[in-house]
Amino acid sequence: MQFKRASEFALPDLTQLWNRGYAGFFVPSQFTERQMASFIWGSDIDLAHSVVALDGDVPAGFSLLGVRGRRGWIGGVGVADEYRGRRLGSAIFGEHMRMMCAETELAGIQLEVLVQNWAHKLYDRNGFATTRRLSFLEGRLPEGRLPEGRPPEGTLPEGRAAAPGVSAGRPGAVLVHSERLHAAWPAVWQREPDDLRRCVPPIERALWAGPAQAPHGYLLYSQHGRELWIADAAAGGSAALATLLLDALTQMYPGFTVAIGDEPEGSPFHQALTALGCHESQARWEMHYTFARAQKHP
Ligand SMILES: CC(C)(COP(=O)(O)OP(=O)(O)OC[C@H]1O[C@@H](n2cnc3c(N)ncnc32)[C@H](O)[C@@H]1OP(=O)(O)O)[C@@H](O)C(=O)NCCC(=O)NCCS
Repeated sequence: MQFKRASEFALPDLTQLWNRGYAGFFVPSQFTERQMASFIWGSDIDLAHSVVALDGDVPAGFSLLGVRGRRGWIGGVGVADEYRGRRLGSAIFGEHMRMMCAETELAGIQLEVLVQNWAHKLYDRNGFATTRRLSFLEGRLPEGRLPEGRPPEGTLPEGRAAAPGVSAGRPGAVLVHSERLHAAWPAVWQREPDDLRRCVPPIERALWAGPAQAPHGYLLYSQHGRELWIADAAAGGSAALATLLLDALTQMYPGFTVAIGDEPEGSPFHQALTALGCHESQARWEMHYTFARAQKHP
């Protein structure tokens, strides 16, 4: 096996390798070239510091790094089916750790891994610590507990109150407050504003509590038929605020299904969605690695 930088490969080859690496994965994870390009762009994948392993001239596996400032994120590690179980995953990830350490100024790296995935061992052995459990929650918004005169489903005009103290509008207006409102419960990499602003297709709608210039909490979502996908939700540390926003959503979309990914266990929205009857259909561990470079970066 030899290792090359992922930047030496064209998009069609990287897409094919991704799909071979994630064949038979626990959840559907196959990309079209367009989706691969949008993932690389949206999640700030640094192909020059990402690794591809080759068997002769046949790509056999990869490990991808995303970079934001001095923070790194493992955006995917995969070994093509026919090469699995032969320590190649361990070799690729070890090589990638060496590259990141030698060639980048990263302070730390984070990643997420499905709780049932043995890949956890790979990260564990390379010094990553498990920091949080993240839930994929899904359920149905309640029906029939709405006050008279509720607005028609999903047709609120821009800026109109969705419920007392809650306004509806476009995501861009409130996304600038993401970092402040996530301070108590930091968003995972792919729910950070850099990622959310580049979502394809774009996130459609927002609800927020308080003034648009300084919201106390928000919920960003898209609608597909009678399904709502919550792309991001932040309520500072307040479960009451999360409940208020979800009540407003219920008033607009009673009986709709609702889902959110990577919500930290115990967060205000985790509590409020669980109280609504949502259940965890998948879970991931978030893991962190800290580079010991204090002397280089006082
Ligand atoms: C995870 C993955 C990269 C590991 O690559 P690999 O080359 O098969 O793994 P290795 O041979 O280096 O083994 C690493 C560890 O995983 C274990 N493992 C590998 N395949 C396994 C399987 N099918 N079931 C249970 N454990 C398994 C190995 O036993 C080893 O642990 P051990 O040292 O305690 O024995 C590979 O399975 C893969 O591509 N999976 C699909 C994509 C994926 O899950 N990526 C990670 C997303 S976070």
